[in-house]
Amino acid sequence: MNYLNLDKDKTEKTVQELNILLSDYHVYYQKLRNFHWNVVGKNFFDLHIKFEEMYDDAKLKIDEMAERILTLRYQPTSNLSEYLKKSNLQESKSEHTDVEMVNTLLDDHGTLIKQMRKVVDKADQADDEGTIDLIGAYIRELEKTSWMLDAWRMNTSDNHQSV
Ligand SMILES: [Fe+2]
Repeated sequence: MNYLNLDKDKTEKTVQELNILLSDYHVYYQKLRNFHWNVVGKNFFDLHIKFEEMYDDAKLKIDEMAERILTLRYQPTSNLSEYLKKSNLQESKSEHTDVEMVNTLLDDHGTLIKQMRKVVDKADQADDEGTIDLIGAYIRELEKTSWMLDAWRMNTSDNHQSV
């Protein structure tokens, strides 16, 4: 047991998944900056602002996750080269249409949510309610952002279809 009365071996497994999620978030964060800068076309003003909102949110989550890992008495992965090695996500080029950017982000959200569920699963096995609470909220928030992006890419004539 550690100073939080959490089982050390089980907590280590949670941290391994958390460090992958932290790595995913760095790739995701930089992708949002990339898209914020490089989006072009009629939707420039909407998406330029939306992507900034999203990377500001990602930046806060990155810090919360790293500090959660420290609270659990482990070290957060802290180098870019390691993030690229550990992450489930791929970097994106800058030459994309607005719809391609939104499609890419929706795909990435699916990957991030999958990784978040892995963290919650390991945290559950370790009775680590603090991590479950933090990452559970991220799942809910990312699902909401995904709904908004999905609504954005829908044609108005499609709005009675569900995917
Ligand atoms: Fe900017």
